[in-house]
Amino acid sequence: MSKKIITITGAAGNIAYSLIFRILSGNIFPQDNKIQINLLDITPVLPSLTGIKYEIEDCAFRNLDHVMITDDPELAFSESDYILMVGAKPRTKGMQRADLLLDNASIFKKQAEIINKAAKKTTKVIVVGNPANTNALILQHNAHNLPAENFSSLMKLDQNRAKSVLSDKLNQKVEDIKKLIVWGNHSATQYPDINHVLINNSRDLIHSLDSRWIEKKFIPRIQNRGAEIIEHRGKSSAASAASAIYDHLNILVNGSNDWESMGVIRKNSYDISSDIFFSFPLKVEQNKISVVDNVEISDLSYKYIKESEKELLTERNIIRDLLD
Ligand code: NAD
Ligand code: LMR
Repeated sequence: MSKKIITITGAAGNIAYSLIFRILSGNIFPQDNKIQINLLDITPVLPSLTGIKYEIEDCAFRNLDHVMITDDPELAFSESDYILMVGAKPRTKGMQRADLLLDNASIFKKQAEIINKAAKKTTKVIVVGNPANTNALILQHNAHNLPAENFSSLMKLDQNRAKSVLSDKLNQKVEDIKKLIVWGNHSATQYPDINHVLINNSRDLIHSLDSRWIEKKFIPRIQNRGAEIIEHRGKSSAASAASAIYDHLNILVNGSNDWESMGVIRKNSYDISSDIFFSFPLKVEQNKISVVDNVEISDLSYKYIKESEKELLTERNIIRDLLD
């Protein structure tokens, strides 16, 4: 029997309240694996973490080893197999995610230094706190003792949203839609790309779509879905974000037979800067994430992709003093 240690930062927040229970009731790890869950948040909310710990225990999850609650990042990170970096301020109505950059960047810089010092070299780090791709860049630069491949940022929520909208439009099952990828930044410049989508191994249904619907409805809907949720809920997405983090973790652990989207830092891929976290079409197999090569990119797709790169380079420029 083996044990996995999963740390969640921002553990007293909205996303974590769904995520913790999703992971512990899920089936990412083999049945006989135990999970130790480390919940990290800031000192004033430790009482809330105690309440969450009691609730976890009350679920009597059979795979739970134990729950550690703490406000000490070193303690939280030191033995972890996976660190889910959720702890950060969310945006509110009318804001872009990049408006959070200066507020949240310092959290990631400080925590990166601790990960660098205390985490195992094999620890995998998933960045969720917004703006996720640029926070991932700050982390990776300042935690250079870990391989750059260990870091990824969440784009699965965007990919899930895109699959869901397409499945609704075409009246097809989400699980039958393959090779739907999202390029770029987790922001309003992201590019959900259906040019390679197969539905039950065929492109016939995709060819039946009106290009005006794709450009004027589908792409903007996915790009702006986060803001749409905030508009209605008054708060940013939490349960759907937690579900996407679960999917992302599951893919890292168990691989995937589809193309996936995650923010990663890679050299020589599709003429994109190698010093930003950018979402590419990815294959994830046997613990290895690799960019799918030679995906055909139309002139229009290239325009979208380059726009998102430009935005990420601008974000990088704003926080360049925090990059080691
Ligand atoms: P929330 O405000 O409900 O929770 C954030 C938690 O982080 C709070 O409990 C806060 O105390 C904690 N925190 C703040 N500073 C911390 C620190 N230094 N160490 C540890 N914990 C700290 O927010 P939420 O709704 O859970 O969202 C969290 C983040 O995730 C936001 O930045 C949000 O924009 C982002 N998000 C990203 C995606 C994505 O797809 N990448 C999706 C949804 C939300
Ligand atoms: C989302 O996409 O729902 C999150 O990134 C939250 C937000 O600010 O939109």
